[in-house]
Amino acid sequence: MDAFIDLLEKTKDLLAVQQQLYGDRIFVDFSAEQLALSSSEHTFLSMIDLSNKVSTCHKCPLAKMRRHVVFGEGDVNSDILLIGEAPGFHEDQRGKPFVGEAGQLLDKILAAINLNRKNLYITNVLKCRPPKNRDPEPYERAACFPILQKQIEIIKPKYILVLGRIAAHVLLNTSRPLSNLRNRVYRKYGALMVITYHPAALLRNANLKRDTWEDVQVFQKCFSGTYNGDVIDLDNL
Ligand code: URA
Repeated sequence: MDAFIDLLEKTKDLLAVQQQLYGDRIFVDFSAEQLALSSSEHTFLSMIDLSNKVSTCHKCPLAKMRRHVVFGEGDVNSDILLIGEAPGFHEDQRGKPFVGEAGQLLDKILAAINLNRKNLYITNVLKCRPPKNRDPEPYERAACFPILQKQIEIIKPKYILVLGRIAAHVLLNTSRPLSNLRNRVYRKYGALMVITYHPAALLRNANLKRDTWEDVQVFQKCFSGTYNGDVIDLDNL
């Protein structure tokens, strides 16, 4: 019975998305060619398709412990992508990224550079919560990274803000301290990328706020087209 109710809920969600996009026209086939989708509709549906696939992922043992996969949310057609580490307790409970205390601080940081959750997309390197919020293990990062890469491929962001050491290590394939990685602008995945401290680190150590403020101001310059400093090109090494 539970499985049946679950199926009904999923069907309802799918129809609601279709209705948002196409009014009362019903489509049973999501092929882009047949629907003659605009590029933003195609992006939207590609992300839903990926999210559906990821919702049943069991590539690592975290799947058995999760309440929800925390896939990501926001505007898939935005130029701006934020990447954090992994869901915590509250994110796992609600299935949404950055909804706990660190998320509230993140909202304040975003507001200070004239951004909000509606005009960007936000996700994490890991889509499932590691127990007791421990650092993700190398095999968990390796299992989950292809999902993030696919999300980047779909969104094609122009600007990426990386939050924290773990996300920076995975994206730059390095283990250098975050203090050596921040305070720079990179080109990666065709986007300008800025790395800064994770908001949870700021909650633990208020001394990191000044550096974070500098980093996000640089990020603001990038997405508002006024950054004219050096760029480390990681796409053409
Ligand atoms: N920390 C993260 O890195 N991501 C979240 O979604 C929440 C806390």
